[in-house]
Amino acid sequence: MKLSVIGSGGWGTALALLLLENGHEVALWSYTEEESRVLRETGENPMLKGVPLPVELALTTDLACVRGCPVVVLATPSFAARSTARRLAPLLDPGAVVVSVSKGIEQETSRTLTQAIEEEIGEGHPVAALSGPSHAEEVGRRVPTAVVAAARDQGAAELVQDLFMNPRFRVYASGDVVGVELAAAMKNVIALCAGCCDGMGCGDNTKAALMTRGLTEIARLGVAMGGRKETFAGLAGVGDLIVTCTSMHSRNRRCGILIGQGTPPAQAVREIGGVVEGYYAAANAKALADKLGVEMPISAAAYEVLYRGKDPMVVLRELMTREKKHEIEDSWV
Ligand SMILES: NC(=O)c1ccc[n+]([C@@H]2O[C@H](COP(=O)([O-])OP(=O)(O)OC[C@H]3O[C@@H](n4cnc5c(N)ncnc54)[C@H](O)[C@@H]3O)[C@@H](O)[C@H]2O)c1
Repeated sequence: MKLSVIGSGGWGTALALLLLENGHEVALWSYTEEESRVLRETGENPMLKGVPLPVELALTTDLACVRGCPVVVLATPSFAARSTARRLAPLLDPGAVVVSVSKGIEQETSRTLTQAIEEEIGEGHPVAALSGPSHAEEVGRRVPTAVVAAARDQGAAELVQDLFMNPRFRVYASGDVVGVELAAAMKNVIALCAGCCDGMGCGDNTKAALMTRGLTEIARLGVAMGGRKETFAGLAGVGDLIVTCTSMHSRNRRCGILIGQGTPPAQAVREIGGVVEGYYAAANAKALADKLGVEMPISAAAYEVLYRGKDPMVVLRELMTREKKHEIEDSWV
C-alpha cells in the first residue's frame, strides 16, 4: 500500500521504517528542506543514531506525497497537528484515513488532537490515534513493542492495526479514542513530576506513589471527558506511564530532572531541545480540570511549579500533607 508519514522527527521516522519493513511503499515528509537534506546526506535520523534509512524510503518536503495514499500518518509535535491537517485537507484522497501518533492536547482549545484534525479535514476521513509505551529509539532498534490503535470507526482501527502490526510490533485495536488520547497527553505531565522527584533525590517509593496517584487523576479526567476507565489500565494508560516515568529516553522526565535539580522550568524546556509535550499538557490539564470540576492535585501542583515558579519541594510537602482520603472514593458506599 502507498503510505505517507508526515513529520520526520524520531517518531515519524521510526514508524516510517516499520511500515517499510511491512512491505509498504512509504514517503517520509520533512517540515524543512534542511531536515530532509540531513536525512538524505547522512542516511540516518539524528534522533535514531545507528539506524540506517533504506534507499526505498522516499524522503520529501512536498505534502502532495499524500496523494494516492489510503492512510496518512501525522507525526508532528502536537502544536502543529491542526495547521498540518489544514494543509493536508485539500490533498487527501477521498476516504483516506489519518492516523495521529502525536501525544498532546491542543493548547488553545484543549481539544484532543484527533478532534482538531477532524475539524480541519472534514467529513469522510476516519481519524485514528496510535499510542502506547513506544520510545522511537527502541522501535527504531526493533525492540519488541505493543501499542493501541483507537478509532471511532472499527474498520479504521483494524486497518491501522493490520498496517503496523508485525512480530516485533504488536497493535491492539480500541474504540476509546478520547481515553487513549487523554492518557497519552496527560502521562507526560506525570513524567515531568517523576523526573522532578528524581532530580530532588526522592526514592522509588515516591515515584511509585506519584505514578499510581497520577494515573488515578488522569483516569478521573478521562472518564469525565467520555473515556473508558479500563483504557487507563491499558497500554495507552499505565503502559505508557511506566515507560515515560522510568526511562531516560523520555524528554519529559529528563526535563523534570533538571527542574528538580534547580533549573528554572522554561530554561529546562529549552535545554532539552525537542518538544517537551508535558510542559504544555500541564496547562491543558489545569484548564480541563477547572472546566470539568475534576480534582487533579498532582497536575495542579505541576502547573504551579512550571508556570508560577513554585518550589517543587514545597509542592511535594503540600501534596503529602493534603487532607486524608480513601484510596477508592466509594469504598464503603
Ligand atoms: N519520540 C518518541 O519516542 C515518541 C513516541 C510516541 C509519540 N511521540 C509523539 O510524537 C510527536 C513527535 O515526536 P518526535 O519525538 O518525533 O519529535 P521530534 O522533535 O523528534 O520531531 C518533531 C518533528 O516535527 C517537525 N515540526 C516542527 N514544527 C513543525 C510544524 N510547525 N509543522 C510541521 N512539522 C513541524 C520537526 O521538523 C520534526 O521533524 C510528539 O507529539 C511526541 O509526543 C514521540
